[in-house]
Amino acid sequence: MISLVVHGGAWDIPDSLLAAHRAGVQGALQVGWSVLKRGGSAIDAVESAVAAMEDNETFDAGKGSFINAVGEVELDASIMDGRTLRAGAVAAVQNVRNPITLARKIMEESEHVLLVGMGATRFAKEHKVPTCSPDFLVTARELERWRDIQSAARFSTVDAFRHGRLPSDTVGAVALDRSGSIASATSTGGTPNKYPGRVGDSPLIGCGTYADNETGGVSATGWGESIIKVVLAKRVIDLMEVNGGDPDAA
Ligand code: GLY
Repeated sequence: MISLVVHGGAWDIPDSLLAAHRAGVQGALQVGWSVLKRGGSAIDAVESAVAAMEDNETFDAGKGSFINAVGEVELDASIMDGRTLRAGAVAAVQNVRNPITLARKIMEESEHVLLVGMGATRFAKEHKVPTCSPDFLVTARELERWRDIQSAARFSTVDAFRHGRLPSDTVGAVALDRSGSIASATSTGGTPNKYPGRVGDSPLIGCGTYADNETGGVSATGWGESIIKVVLAKRVIDLMEVNGGDPDAA
């Protein structure tokens, strides 16, 4: 059996962007599914599915991400291989088109799990992960949204979410390959108008992402500050262990 789940969008997706979100997640499913169908690994499937959504400006991941309080995009991502429990992650990177690919490189070619900011960009350059100018990640749609937030003085992300005014479109994927291996990946631009340097759940192993061949895989979406408090991804895995592997019950 092979299996692939992807997500792209939470909270209030504006009606005008609904079709683009549907097409984006379906496109990502096709990309990842073709990897699994030809016998590829779960880790290849989740990386390619998430990279497809990072490349799609619809989502809050890669180009098109939310803009922070000082007008910049900062990206977070993580990936985990359920065969080995090895993981890689990046936080607050500004010069990388596909942070999920950089996270995988860190998992496979460094002795670390999480690199942030300038160190992550340096690692990308050293390992030939494509970089870009910070401006490349900023789109006109998000600039308009950001100006609207700033002019309305809705400076608090919490207030903005409470009023249901903003979407949150973190992306992610979980795959099971033919060999029975599970992998998970998550990528995000974080929350709109976030404080510079703010890191959410997505790059934190055990919060936004977890994979263990013995149990299952998780990729979270939603409000990072709440997800971090309950270590959501690992908590779901732990509950699956005591619920006979049932993800719905967990
Ligand atoms: N769940 C994404 C974030 O809060 O950054």
